[in-house]
Amino acid sequence: MAGMGNSLRAAALLAFVVLSILVSLLISSVQQFGGTVSYVSNATVAADEEEFASLRGALIHQLSERRKEIIPLLLPDYHVDGGDENGLPGDSPRSLHNVQTQDSTLDYSLWNEIAHGSRKARMDEMDCDSLVDMQAVEILGSGYTKLGVKVNLAGGQPVALKLVNEQGIDMGKCVEDFRDPRGCRELVSYKLKKEIVLLQRLQHPNVIKLKGHCAEGRGGEDGRVTVILEQGNPLQMIQLLQSPWEDRFRVCLDLVRLLHFLSDSPLGSVALLDFQPRQFVTVSGQLKLTDLDDASAAETSCRTHADCTLQFPHRNFTVLCSARGMCEGLNEKRNIYNAYRYFFTYLLPHQAPPGFTHLVDHIMNSTGELKADINQTLEAFEHILLLYKSGLHLDNLPPSIIGDYAVMRGMGTSGSAAYRCWPSYSQQGCVLSVHGAREAAFICNSHSQCSSFTLTGRKTWTGRVLASFSSGFSHLVPDGTSEVYVKKAKAPEDAAVAREDPNGRTQPRPSR
Ligand SMILES: Nc1ncnc2c1ncn2[C@@H]1O[C@H](COP(=O)(O)OP(=O)(O)OP(=O)(O)O)[C@@H](O)[C@H]1O
Ligand SMILES: *[C@@H]1O[C@H](CO)[C@@H](O)[C@H](O)[C@H]1NC(C)=O
Ligand SMILES: *[C@@H]1O[C@H](CO)[C@@H](O)[C@H](O)[C@H]1NC(C)=O
Ligand SMILES: *[C@@H]1O[C@H](CO)[C@@H](O)[C@H](O)[C@H]1NC(C)=O
Ligand SMILES: *[C@@H]1O[C@H](CO)[C@@H](O)[C@H](O)[C@H]1NC(C)=O
Repeated sequence: MAGMGNSLRAAALLAFVVLSILVSLLISSVQQFGGTVSYVSNATVAADEEEFASLRGALIHQLSERRKEIIPLLLPDYHVDGGDENGLPGDSPRSLHNVQTQDSTLDYSLWNEIAHGSRKARMDEMDCDSLVDMQAVEILGSGYTKLGVKVNLAGGQPVALKLVNEQGIDMGKCVEDFRDPRGCRELVSYKLKKEIVLLQRLQHPNVIKLKGHCAEGRGGEDGRVTVILEQGNPLQMIQLLQSPWEDRFRVCLDLVRLLHFLSDSPLGSVALLDFQPRQFVTVSGQLKLTDLDDASAAETSCRTHADCTLQFPHRNFTVLCSARGMCEGLNEKRNIYNAYRYFFTYLLPHQAPPGFTHLVDHIMNSTGELKADINQTLEAFEHILLLYKSGLHLDNLPPSIIGDYAVMRGMGTSGSAAYRCWPSYSQQGCVLSVHGAREAAFICNSHSQCSSFTLTGRKTWTGRVLASFSSGFSHLVPDGTSEVYVKKAKAPEDAAVAREDPNGRTQPRPSR
């Protein structure tokens, strides 16, 4: 216990130190965000100038490569809301690059908005004006490329901003290679621009909602881009591991729904190349993908089946090379296996309700062996959700179990003698989700301390009821939304009904 206290203190201290560093980063990036950064190359001598020119050439090449990555994403295979400015792509004359394409069907209006700043906001999207007088609250996180900042807009609306992480590895490497902070900022900003395009194209309940964007500077020539997103909470895997199975199942289900969408999206079959929990946030418990710069809609071309190998640290898979020379379903399979290895193995099997263990085992095996496609995987998840909501998985709980309790409807308790259980929805006591009184009675019977439980009016995301278990209470109080169940005094012959095993768990009686 003492050891745990120490490590908690150490963790708190570490968190404090990290936060302090991040706040100082925030201050510096917000300063840069607000002010203008001028790049003056003073003491240039002739020799340096030559080297500088060649570095600049290399940087320009990089910029045009990045730009080429975005162009295909602009092809309007799909409709775009409110695109009415059909200008030509191309930045200000001072721009380092220009699009080399004859394709006149590209969505130039979107491109122009991203490149030049959205003078004319589309629909209800936010733009640079929305950011005036905003208040930075805290750093949400920082990665290789981007910095996430939690801000309140002038009207009080909370949003998340993404900007170039000036202290990030991407910027650092680029400046080291090209010695041109301004050019590098533009280069790194392409990842933000790509993300804006992808967020526009890949709208889904499990993808973070793009609220708008802002490209600073006239003509956007200094390349500074800010993405305005709905605010989420970075996914905390450690915290999730300690959450009720219902919440962990939700994350996995949301992920599968996302992958189902990505397998047949407006951009084709999209693979998430960097598939880690830190690419996701939750918004009111719902999982949302927030980092899209590593999403790829490219299909792998092949000549033989051997060209279609998916390599993972402990497993390799090979898919078929189709007649048109593409690896069939490679993106979808890559996503499924990553979902299995980064999410399902940690979140799904542990403490699954007994009625679901065989279904969960089946999902684990079929995703871990890539035997099921995303449609079948989604079906398996939705089936579990249906059973869970309907309570059908509890059919083998004896209905008579409820007879052990006296019920008082329209009542709540006060002065409850709480005891703790795990994983509880409340730190103070034992609060678990149940389908109804019968499941709650079964749980109460399996806890040696439990003598009563209250079905509250509160529900979880699946619609299951939160039940609070206690070892006693001092008063009943009127409460229209809840019901109190009190264990009846046991007659001696009833003692055999709930046979407790040494772990304090009740063995379910055989049904019927
Ligand atoms: N909408 C959001 N709400 C809350 N936090 C967010 C949001 N979007 C991003 N973040 C946080 O901001 C951080 C940086 O964002 P992002 O993951 O896109 O950057 P990155 O540089 O691509 O990161 P990585 O190196 O992990 O690829 C992340 O740690 C993420 O948790
Ligand atoms: C170079 O810098 C010095 C001092 O920092 C300044 O006096 C000078 O004018 C600069 N020269 C140029 C060409 O900018
Ligand atoms: C996967 O394939 C690579 C390359 O062919 C090989 O080096 C590696 O050992 C294989 N891994 C497994 C687990 O089979
Ligand atoms: C799937 O099941 C088979 C047969 O029971 C077993 O050999 C294999 O290891 C399982 N794979 C996974 C990933 O669980
Ligand atoms: C998967 O489901 C989608 C509809 O949700 C359907 O269009 C598609 O054909 C299905 N794919 C397969 C391989 O069954």
